[in-house]
Amino acid sequence: MALRASQPSPDCDLCPRLEAFRADNIKAYPDYFNAPAPTFGDKNAALLIVGLAPGLHGANKTGRPFTGDYAGDLLYATLAKFGFSNDRYDARPDDGLELKSAAITNAVRCVPPQNKPIGTEITTCRQFLSGQIDGMKHLSAILCLGRIAHQSTIAALGQKQKTAPFAHGAEHPIAGRPFALFDSYHCSRYNTNTRRLTEEMFELVFASVRNHIDAKSKSRL
Ligand code: URA
Repeated sequence: MALRASQPSPDCDLCPRLEAFRADNIKAYPDYFNAPAPTFGDKNAALLIVGLAPGLHGANKTGRPFTGDYAGDLLYATLAKFGFSNDRYDARPDDGLELKSAAITNAVRCVPPQNKPIGTEITTCRQFLSGQIDGMKHLSAILCLGRIAHQSTIAALGQKQKTAPFAHGAEHPIAGRPFALFDSYHCSRYNTNTRRLTEEMFELVFASVRNHIDAKSKSRL
């Protein structure tokens, strides 16, 4: 079977609303990246993190998921704390940050108006999430940030939503796959300001993910 593409073209026109928004942003912010944000990290990684969609002044500006966004501050600090990066995050794509056995992608690759992708955009962009997952042959864990990322990943994996409902802190085994899916509330400014998600809660999820990956890699020795 041919591998599915893991990345839309820079001028992807599959979602008319997102394409029109991109055209507006190219005019308003000509110095921005203004294209579908590619996955950051190595396809041989053990961990894939799935976010929602690029922020207008984050990944849509810098071209790297969660880079320049408020949400990136907590995500990249936590990745460093759990050994998934070299701790060089400085909100710029040329900051020297390297992920260690981790990769970060988004359920929707183009920036949506008001940070809210609509259903058809999530469904249409899922082909690239499927392609991304299919291309990662050493995955032990997928961490979904928020319900939309979770639901799109479950659909990309051909699973029933009922068998793996979204819940912060949940770990879902995936039938027929060598990896588990973990859930966290999204590390957005709204969720952290309202304390729906605290730093401690986020770290507990990462601790579970780290343990799972380490245990899997020991069991392969
Ligand atoms: N930036 C991203 O790249 N994805 C998100 O989900 C949020 C911010």
